[in-house]
Amino acid sequence: MIILGIETSCDETAAAVVTGEARILANQVLSQLGEHKPYGGIVPEIAARAHLQHIDRMIDLAMTEAQVSFTDLGGVAATAGPGLIGGVMVGVMTAKAIAAVHGLPFLAVNHLEGHALSARLIGNVPFPYLLLLVSGGHCQLLIVEGVGRYRRLGTTLDDALGEAFDKVSKMLGLGFPGGTVVEKAALAGDGGRFRLPRPLYGRPGCHFSFSGLKTAVRHAIAALPPGPLAAADIADICASFQAAAGDVLIDRTTHALDQVLGLHPETRTLVVAGGVAANGYLRRRLQDLCAGRGITFTAPPPALCTDNAAMIAWAGVERLRLGLTDGLDFSPRPRWPLDPDAPPAVGAGVKA
Ligand code: KG4
Ligand code: ZN
Repeated sequence: MIILGIETSCDETAAAVVTGEARILANQVLSQLGEHKPYGGIVPEIAARAHLQHIDRMIDLAMTEAQVSFTDLGGVAATAGPGLIGGVMVGVMTAKAIAAVHGLPFLAVNHLEGHALSARLIGNVPFPYLLLLVSGGHCQLLIVEGVGRYRRLGTTLDDALGEAFDKVSKMLGLGFPGGTVVEKAALAGDGGRFRLPRPLYGRPGCHFSFSGLKTAVRHAIAALPPGPLAAADIADICASFQAAAGDVLIDRTTHALDQVLGLHPETRTLVVAGGVAANGYLRRRLQDLCAGRGITFTAPPPALCTDNAAMIAWAGVERLRLGLTDGLDFSPRPRWPLDPDAPPAVGAGVKA
């Protein structure tokens, strides 16, 4: 089984070819960073136009790298939501056209399911497992019980963690996107210098909140002497922010582990996925937590943590195996929760 995957839900135009044996034959990712940089964030209209401009070429590149033709494919998978709807439509229409012309099954993949199953593309991680999904748009703890079977334990009440990294970076004048720059600056910093809040730390449940932490960083910067920030101040703020984020992730994930082991005592794995899972400091903190609990820690390599089409193709493999194909009338979904039955986070007895 060979599947073509297409990802266009945010600011990466990506195409990949993956086999049923979890071999990545091609994984092409074109970042639109340069196009969005002048605006300090992603502009949906620019993203949609850039996807339209580049998607055919990216698919050609992936098919050439994989040395396969459309007749070798067993199906075409595309991110069909959630995400910036203009971009999602470009990917879905392209996948549907290829499927229609070549008589192939079409697989409408939830972007979050792509992240959720990416660990099974890298290693043979059995269900159920606990998933910490931390990206620019999402911060969730979910039990992955099977393909299409997710139970959400917690989500963010306000900002996603990646978004908080991006905003801290912007406040410090370090540019966009912020995750990797803040992580790099933090290496030289003292994480104990600024006393930043740990929102919801020690509170029951598994929800997150990061807006108070972000505001505290703004106040800390404002309290520094006027003028350009010293490199040491930038490093200390980044390290202090990362330390606070790490404490929150550990606390929330500890609660989630307790819950998942209560429901499914056979659970052996924590999977961390999404762009923020590329952060070495946070990975180490979570690894230590798992070591202490006798749980296996798994995170895809950084290139498969950030948005890519290999994870979408792989989710397509998993879905096709179960016969979960979609009709060409499938409509892209700007919002598409993995666990539609999860109670809303607001009103869950927690305040940010
Ligand atoms: O999964 P992703 O590529 O796109 C979304 O679906 O959101 O995640 C992008 C996010 C950005 O907010 C970026 O700043 C963050 O992941 N990120 C990081 C790191 N690399 C990327 N955050 C912290 N540390 C990193 N090394
Ligand atoms: Zn993503």
